[in-house]
Amino acid sequence: MSKKKLVFSGVQPTGNLHLGNYLGALKNFVSLQKEMECIYCVVDLHAITTLQRPSVLQSNVLETVASFISTGLDPNKSIIFNQSSVPGHTQLAWILNCVSRIGWLNRMTQFKDKAGSDKEKASVGLYIYPNLMAADILLYKATHVPVGADQKQHLELSRDIAQKFNNDFNCKDFFPIPEPLIPKNVSRVMSLRDGTKKMSKSEESDFSRINLKDNADEILKKVKKAKSDSEPIPENLSNLEKKPEALNLINIYAELTKKSLDAALSEVAGKEYSFLKTKLSDALITEIVPIGKEIKRLLNDKAHLMQILKKGKEKANIIAEENLKNIREKVGLI
Ligand code: TYM
Repeated sequence: MSKKKLVFSGVQPTGNLHLGNYLGALKNFVSLQKEMECIYCVVDLHAITTLQRPSVLQSNVLETVASFISTGLDPNKSIIFNQSSVPGHTQLAWILNCVSRIGWLNRMTQFKDKAGSDKEKASVGLYIYPNLMAADILLYKATHVPVGADQKQHLELSRDIAQKFNNDFNCKDFFPIPEPLIPKNVSRVMSLRDGTKKMSKSEESDFSRINLKDNADEILKKVKKAKSDSEPIPENLSNLEKKPEALNLINIYAELTKKSLDAALSEVAGKEYSFLKTKLSDALITEIVPIGKEIKRLLNDKAHLMQILKKGKEKANIIAEENLKNIREKVGLI
């Protein structure tokens, strides 16, 4: 029997989304909504695992919704809502806290990175963050989860939790084992300042990333300043792979212009980096600047964004409540 396909993914409301979020996740979200039922969630409860200023959090949630719509998500096709508005997420998270194992969480590299050197001072929420992520996915019995490569380990944990729940409560196939959908070519967009680190909102220098709201001038400046070297661009892939910054720039260029990495490399091989950087800036400006303008336009109508969340919450809640009823039954909760 073939199961119904359902896509779920989440994005933290960190304010400015960047090119990594866009190429690693959002672009994929948009193409999936053409083929499958999709649920996209602004994960405000994940955001509060580190202290947030309440007013900033609220505006970041709306900005994330505006970014979803501006990149092409259609609220009439996909369910778009914020996590805390559907109580089922935290209810299932508690149940899954009791299924998940401490040993599994201890292996999570993202906790180690985010908690830094003083783990005793990290919030408990940050530690059990991956269990909440599993609850997000399993609450809807999602079958497919589009994410960037940095979320792969969390996704594997969600799969382990689903499997253990099905075994513990003797209900084979109750939770589908969710499949990660990780883009092949740009699964990890790297920082423009250091090709060994992923592009991220938490890196201090804004020159390390292209934000979706950057204007043409900012994009030009950032690409110009992106780390490179004075040698010509390598002629072949194996030499390119030894230069992570160059590989990153060409990867981004290839993705934006819908070329294979080979084809993109052969266009620029042997040339100076300025040649690649001009082409890359043009491609970025063409794709990103209209998105940024649309985000800013949508942010002028907060009531409209709130309405999208309200409608999405209602739809999500119907699925969540039905599934939660069955989950509670399996566990033996009256
Ligand atoms: P978050 O908010 O950090 O990132 C949102 C999405 O963007 C992807 N991403 C990247 N992809 C490629 N290169 C990069 N440099 C880059 N930076 C970010 C992430 O992989 C992600 O897909 N825990 C998740 C949110 C979440 C979630 C979920 C995801 C909560 N519940 C359930 C899927 C399913 C997170 O913090 O993503």
